[in-house]
Amino acid sequence: YVIGVDLGTSAVKILLVSEQGAVVQTVSKPYPLYHDKTGYSEQDPEDWVTGTIDGLQELLQEFGGNPEDIEGISFSGQMHGLVLMDDSNSVLRRAILWNDTRTTAECRSIVDLVGQERLLEITKNPALEGFTLPKILWVKEHEPEIFNQATAFVLPKDYLRYRMTGELQMEFSDAAGTLLLDISKKQWSGEICKLLDLDESICPPLVDSHTEVGTLTAEFAEASGLAQTTRVFAGGADNACGAIGSGILEDGKTLCSIGTSGVVLSYEASDDKDFDGKVHYFNHAAPDAFYTMGVTLSAGYSLTWFKEVFAADESFDELLADIAAVPAGSNGLLFTPYLVGERTPHADAAIRASFIGMDSSHQRKDFARAVLEGITFSMNESIEIFRANGKHIDTIVSIGGGAQNEDWLQMQADIFNAKIVRLRSEQGPGMGAAILAAFGCGWFESLQACADVFLEEDKEFLPDASNVERYEKLFAVYTEVYEQTKGLNE
Ligand code: XUL
Repeated sequence: YVIGVDLGTSAVKILLVSEQGAVVQTVSKPYPLYHDKTGYSEQDPEDWVTGTIDGLQELLQEFGGNPEDIEGISFSGQMHGLVLMDDSNSVLRRAILWNDTRTTAECRSIVDLVGQERLLEITKNPALEGFTLPKILWVKEHEPEIFNQATAFVLPKDYLRYRMTGELQMEFSDAAGTLLLDISKKQWSGEICKLLDLDESICPPLVDSHTEVGTLTAEFAEASGLAQTTRVFAGGADNACGAIGSGILEDGKTLCSIGTSGVVLSYEASDDKDFDGKVHYFNHAAPDAFYTMGVTLSAGYSLTWFKEVFAADESFDELLADIAAVPAGSNGLLFTPYLVGERTPHADAAIRASFIGMDSSHQRKDFARAVLEGITFSMNESIEIFRANGKHIDTIVSIGGGAQNEDWLQMQADIFNAKIVRLRSEQGPGMGAAILAAFGCGWFESLQACADVFLEEDKEFLPDASNVERYEKLFAVYTEVYEQTKGLNE
């Protein structure tokens, strides 16, 4: 067996997977998020460790087998979160998470000091509030007494792994989201550190995602119930692991993952495309590969918001039960999902959402369908950027909440104009972590060979020509709305 640990934003989810790829046990342990001020989003790293120990204990109890039969463990983690450590590797403050937006001023100074062009050359990404470097600069500026004690920073799952093994490392797929990595050279950028007056020694040693980084400490083995011989592999960023767990391992393969936020992610064999920072460009957790990614901040969240405000007593299934009765285009109603600002292609924390085209005949089902269409249009903006740069996209694997409703899956096929594939018993990033562990253990000769055994297609959804045509026209209107409404909050 292997274990995949997915250290998410709301919970840690742990999977026990057999050599044939069967998910034998799963367990999930939630932990709190702290929003002390508007825009703040923090977590206590100790909660990640406690949640993981509790989860592992429960998992092993339910499993009932011999812990020594669990050969390896690996990780998927929420990206970008800053954990600062002192010289005894104690945590100096709560982690500042990917969805914390306090760092607009720091993003500006990064652009001023490094230069937008040079930043894109080195990191392939623009300065965005969510990334780690602006968070480091925020602590330096606002909490100098804490910053002065910091000797290292790590990302959430790297901290958890440190507590399990006593070894401090980072791996490339998560390091790529810090804005401190030269993603082509796979090295920390001494140049960026220097320009921002940061000591490069705070950046930990870098390893590949499938690298075996050690075994468990006696203390962690005792606390969790795992055998001390369990082999520990570095793991990857949750989006990279979501991609591996969906088989996005060769050119042309693309993923649509809709959770709270929405991600479209496409495999890249090389680092030589130029998206001008409009979509993210990160190192993959597959050796020497990359991926491009667009993020819609309020994807599933837009639907949750709509349900809470207009259908609080109903289930999602009830809310969406009659959307298939509404024609493509929601009878002229259009939604843009910018409830908390947007990430790609509009890096704009101030933009807000809209419903336009309301008619006195519209009913709730028109609104519900328009919300799903707006979320999907937003993700299509990133897919269009991939296509404009010569990427061929004809098959998209859809996972997450967005894959749980067949009408929405058909809508994805029609708006993306691509075949949509749903997987059987999809497990998302946790499965990617398990695949990294299985590959690390030497069970398979490649990640692809492992994915071929572990993953199974369930159903395909093909684009409907007349809906494709209708949506193409509406998408042109959709893209105008951002430009026309961005002044509203100024
Ligand atoms: C990616 C991002 C989120 C987090 C969520 O850039 O910020 O997808 O990784 O865990």
